[in-house]
Amino acid sequence: MKPKVFVTSGIPQPGLDILEKECQVKVNPYDRFLTKQELMEEVKEADGLLCLLPDTIDGEIMSANTNLKIISDYAVGYNNIDIVEATRRGIMVTNTPEVLTDTTADLTWALIMSIARRIVESDKFTREGKFKRWTPMLLLGSDVHHSTLGIIGLGRIGRTVAKRAGGFEMRVLYTDVKKAPKEMEDELRVEFVPLEELLSSSDFVTLHVPLVPETRHLIGAKELKMMKKTAYLVNSARGPLVDERALVHALREKWIAGAALDVYENEPALAPGLAELDNVVVVPHIGSASKATREKMAVMAATNLVAGLKGEVPPNLVNKEVIEK
Ligand code: GLV
Ligand code: GLV
Repeated sequence: MKPKVFVTSGIPQPGLDILEKECQVKVNPYDRFLTKQELMEEVKEADGLLCLLPDTIDGEIMSANTNLKIISDYAVGYNNIDIVEATRRGIMVTNTPEVLTDTTADLTWALIMSIARRIVESDKFTREGKFKRWTPMLLLGSDVHHSTLGIIGLGRIGRTVAKRAGGFEMRVLYTDVKKAPKEMEDELRVEFVPLEELLSSSDFVTLHVPLVPETRHLIGAKELKMMKKTAYLVNSARGPLVDERALVHALREKWIAGAALDVYENEPALAPGLAELDNVVVVPHIGSASKATREKMAVMAATNLVAGLKGEVPPNLVNKEVIEK
């Protein structure tokens, strides 16, 4: 008998092909997320679960099936899964790192360029037929080249964002829970500074830390006040890293020049007032959304799931303690 897997949403076919070879696969048939009750009904029948970031997988869902072996998250950041509960129950959890690093770094740069050079506003202006003539003061933005980039979190994505900054001849500051080795700093041409200094010195502040209790509201009113009035905040990591209400206030009061966001505190909802502001660029969590990368994520998530179900150690196991039990 092939093991049973439940997939909470349609994913690119190459991933499904891998699952179908080895497992009995059921995919959420609806064009919507399942309710918690529905999801628990499916988990009851499944040996493995392949889920997405918007699926909150807590102990209650895991309790629906004491035989659940593995939860494969179709994401690099796995804050949607209660890892402590999973480990306690002996359930493996996997994610999809690395395959989306470059794509997410690219999107971060798209956000930086868009907010600095007012691309979205300019597009709207042009479409609305307002472009009557070239003038010296039309839609002036800020320079990206030779400015200072502040990277919070020098993980894989943070480092890849730093590499791309070289092309713009920027000064690059970073902060993290610990300083990177000297060779890495030299190679990336980055300088370690405390958070306060990064905030007060950067023209662009970009977030690349995981969402954990310690990083929730890492950027709130106090931090926004420390930023330059001419600076921009960029978030392609996780919404709750930023106190979004404080951000709306800061943008309204012009404490900072603007923000470019791919993620939101209460996704998919936006904080009241955010969408009315001109000095923001908002996109719907598309950091890893290239065709090639989403396929690679599907293959990776499926490969992890199949390996776990075969009793192997999945390549991207995040709770290693589970196999030491
Ligand atoms: C997307 O946000 C991911 O973590 O993969
Ligand atoms: C995520 O993969 C990161 O390390 O930034």
